[in-house]
Amino acid sequence: MRLLLICCVFTVITASAEESLPQFTARQLSDPSYLAEGRAVWHSQCRHCHGRSAYPGKAPHLKPSTYQPDWVYDRVTNGFRKMPAWRDIFTQRQRESVTVYIMSEEFQP
Ligand code: HEC
Repeated sequence: MRLLLICCVFTVITASAEESLPQFTARQLSDPSYLAEGRAVWHSQCRHCHGRSAYPGKAPHLKPSTYQPDWVYDRVTNGFRKMPAWRDIFTQRQRESVTVYIMSEEFQP
């Protein structure tokens, strides 16, 4: 019984040490403060690879209408092939923000 209890406590501690995955509610996706922060992140670190004026072929032009927010968040957080991972560079809040911005109507590559 005591061992079981220790196991439970350990699981809870390790789970909370990891980042919780964002839920991306409709409210968050239209939150102006996330949008503003995401726009700033985009201009500072993403546009020079993904933007309209970036060197052709450097990175794909994003097609947000074909994405789900969780997927974008995962790519931004963990990277993929030549797409850098931003986990250690941007806070979770910043990674959520840039996802919100990309998924928004005001997104302009
Ligand atoms: C050094 C250039 C570079 C930078 C900087 C960069 N990316 Fe990327 N990104 C890439 C490349 C290359 C891919 C394509 C990876 C693949 O699928 O092989 C990619 C893929 C993606 C994808 C998936 C697109 C798709 O349709 O497959 C998303 C979303 C994305 N990047 C978002 C971002 C965001 C947000 C930032 C800024 C935080 C960013 N990227 C910064 C190079 C970059």
